[in-house]
Amino acid sequence: MNCLLLLGSPRKNGNTETLAGRVAGVVEKNGGHVESVRLCELDIAPCIDCGECRKNGRCVIDDDMQELYSKIDKANTIIIASPIYFYGVTAQTKVFIDRTQALWSRKYLLKKRIETIGGPERKGYFLSVAATSGEKCFDGAILTARYCFDAMDVAWGGELVIPGIDHMGAFAKNPSALAKAEDFGEGLLYFGRHN
Ligand SMILES: Cc1cc2nc3c(=O)[nH]c(=O)nc-3n(C[C@H](O)[C@H](O)[C@H](O)COP(=O)(O)O)c2cc1C
Repeated sequence: MNCLLLLGSPRKNGNTETLAGRVAGVVEKNGGHVESVRLCELDIAPCIDCGECRKNGRCVIDDDMQELYSKIDKANTIIIASPIYFYGVTAQTKVFIDRTQALWSRKYLLKKRIETIGGPERKGYFLSVAATSGEKCFDGAILTARYCFDAMDVAWGGELVIPGIDHMGAFAKNPSALAKAEDFGEGLLYFGRHN
């Protein structure tokens, strides 16, 4: 498994990173490769709807997203991990997601599917935590992540979202949350063995 893990929290070593680290740890322990990228450390400008990507599926903004486009195409598993900010993903995650519009253009306007450009069948997963436990707390973020994976030409694999996690270190002190993360990692490996 060649997994690209996109970390969307600006809080380094925070709850989302602990969750994602547990999932990644299981994958790596079983021979998978995980490349983690902290979105907050990259220079990624917002999409400006210039329309250039409609011509060839490529974004003309020359920043760190260019390297991510090639990492996205090479990975067979992609994980987006973001805490909930105002019922959505963080700004850092959303800036990244909006820039996948170039991949949407490639897929839907230019009809270039990932198979036609040499990519394997891939799956995408979403990981999240939130302070509260409201019924719809994760709905917006999950929908956004699903559409982003669709633009990347990555099939939706599922989500692990854990409510009631707020203060720095809360996830690491929650045995049930840690166990859920490890189970989720095992689930990814199950997919990896069959594809
Ligand atoms: C700007 C901001 C907005 C937030 N909005 C929500 C929210 O809408 N719902 C919620 O349950 N928690 C919200 N939270 C709490 C975070 O989701 C929570 O603290 C989470 O554990 C942070 O994860 P991290 O350590 O990975 O950054 C918000 C936190 C911040 C800083």
